[in-house]
Amino acid sequence: CPTPRKTLLRWLKIRAMKINDIPTRTITPVAGIRAVDIIDQTALPHALRTVRLTTLDDAAHAIRSMQVRGAPLIGVTAAYGVALALAQHDDEATLLAAVRTLAATRPTAVNLHWALARMQAHLAALAAPSAGRRADAAWQEAAAIAEEDVEQCRRIGCHGFDLLRPVAEKRGRLELMTHCNAGWLATVDFGTALAPIYAAFDAGVDVHVWVSETRPRNQGLLTAWELKQHGVPHTLIADNAAGQLLSQGNVDAVIVGADRIAANADVANKIGTYLKALAAREAGVPFYVAAPRSTIDFRCPDGNSIPIEERNGDELRVVPGVDTSGLAGSIRQIPADEAVANPAFDVTPAKWISAIVTERGSCPATAAGLHNLYPEARHA
Ligand code: MRU
Repeated sequence: CPTPRKTLLRWLKIRAMKINDIPTRTITPVAGIRAVDIIDQTALPHALRTVRLTTLDDAAHAIRSMQVRGAPLIGVTAAYGVALALAQHDDEATLLAAVRTLAATRPTAVNLHWALARMQAHLAALAAPSAGRRADAAWQEAAAIAEEDVEQCRRIGCHGFDLLRPVAEKRGRLELMTHCNAGWLATVDFGTALAPIYAAFDAGVDVHVWVSETRPRNQGLLTAWELKQHGVPHTLIADNAAGQLLSQGNVDAVIVGADRIAANADVANKIGTYLKALAAREAGVPFYVAAPRSTIDFRCPDGNSIPIEERNGDELRVVPGVDTSGLAGSIRQIPADEAVANPAFDVTPAKWISAIVTERGSCPATAAGLHNLYPEARHA
């Protein structure tokens, strides 16, 4: 790699993800009013559409309908949801109702609960609230959570690249595989699993990414879209092709994100992650998980205790897309009365994970590894 340290230090300072060369974030406060604009991810990759959220209900709907998705971005949107609620009424009952509504939107990504707890703790610490004061404080705290997410993802990028660099130096190139979308669309900027890939690419490494489609919601298409925006070479594959590619030695490392990491380092992530980890282990390919502190649930002892979201079966039965003239629509591929199961996440056992990459560095996927990175969590 060409002077990677220097390049990376520069990356730490100036990089921001771009659409058509314009630096863009997934969620942006609107100047002058209490509102945020989001990229509507249900329209991607076929259309780039922005939606304005002005109320608690808008925020809850955006999370539930997956206009915003990905664990870190769900947390940030929930924080803004609280701030939008308090912009209407600045009282305790409104705060509690907002937290209850947002907490019920999606069960698996713990970043949602982390962000809500942080908002509550911050607002509770305010002495004798007066008109407008809590609303302002909520807005500022939501913005702080968003900024921290950006910084954490940037750091994950650097630490993840540190893990990948020796392979890149030895092989002269990097063949990576990812699953779902853990890129900048799943965070505020940079991403988790994709941040090290962007860092490697920006450092001049010859990198190629195998992107699995991620049925049934096809978040892999979001990954392909954002890699294309950044110019990173990639190839989309059917989920079922991953085992073949891994077993044939076509992949140097697999890197994925996480929705919740238990205290013993078991990892819940998008359905299909488990099978990739299993195949990677059999093929002797390193399997990395990248996530910020807000994804680690030290109160959750192991993967069995992580709630797994079961989503509507129509996500399998009906496939959205555009027709050959570009018109948006959907097709039914399974009869309405066919029984289907649609678990949205699975749990990969810690013993199959080569390392966990966080904003503080990488650690072995063990309880001790996590505690060494976050010693203060002993008192959580
Ligand atoms: O259902 P989704 O699209 O919200 O699931 C997203 C994932 O599983 C991601 O891999 C995870 O949230 C990490 S995002 C940085």
